[in-house]
Amino acid sequence: MEVFSTIKSLQNAVNTAKSNGKTVGLVPTMGALHEGHLSLIRSAKKHCDVVVVSIFVNPIQFNNAEDLRTYPRTLEADCEKLETVGCDMVLAPSVEEMYPEPVNETYDFGELEAVMEGPRRPGHFSGVAVVVRRLFEIVQPMKAFFGEKDFQQLAIIRRLVEQLQLPLQIVPCPIVRADDGLALSSRNMRLSDQARKIAPQIYATLKTAVYNSKSQTIEEVKQYVTDTLNGFGVFEPEYFEIVNDTTLQPISQWSEAQGIVGCIAVWLDGVRLIDVIRFK
Ligand code: PAF
Repeated sequence: MEVFSTIKSLQNAVNTAKSNGKTVGLVPTMGALHEGHLSLIRSAKKHCDVVVVSIFVNPIQFNNAEDLRTYPRTLEADCEKLETVGCDMVLAPSVEEMYPEPVNETYDFGELEAVMEGPRRPGHFSGVAVVVRRLFEIVQPMKAFFGEKDFQQLAIIRRLVEQLQLPLQIVPCPIVRADDGLALSSRNMRLSDQARKIAPQIYATLKTAVYNSKSQTIEEVKQYVTDTLNGFGVFEPEYFEIVNDTTLQPISQWSEAQGIVGCIAVWLDGVRLIDVIRFK
């Protein structure tokens, strides 16, 4: 595995691989890698000959300076993990390398970002789109891999590829959970032992919500989820939305869409956790 800090050197290596007939897959990350990320790389290895992982804490997608400052940066440990799953190339550029000029490009994803994370993190998805587009331009992969845990991000990246007619395929990868059901996230390590013990109740509640959906209305299921989590006295649900899985618009009848998911953001112990469950 080779680690590159400059775009040019990575591009040279990628171009050599391509000229040898290799297919190239890209897994964009912000580092602090866990099993969830590693599953993206395993999937990429199955689809492509050469896997490039980018590790870049993208300042323009943070709307909280403190969050950006304290975001874990663990390049050495990340590279050790990447070796174990057969990653071929790592791009770990500095901010100056990635953004030599001030960024004045913005994106508007309309209704896709008018819900859930969008209004709560102004500019976030535009910042994600800028960096993801740049990474696509640098690597020009045949396929790029994203986790379904960031369900809204995945929808927005698909829209970006569609809008710009980029010649690559987006491959969604399922959420990876701990044995007790908690969705893996770099943020889980900030939970106290006590909070970590109760955190799996988020997924447990979502699973019961799916069961209840056979006999309850959407409103009742939403109420059940927020009441149940509030009942523990430690969770602060920020939103729980039941949405069309393509448009991400909230629905009011189970018959309203073919694919339906529930997306939640909940605070626990000062940590913001998100999760997603499929209803159909
Ligand atoms: O999901 C992430 O880790 C980031 O949003 C991404 C896609 C790597 C862009 O910085």
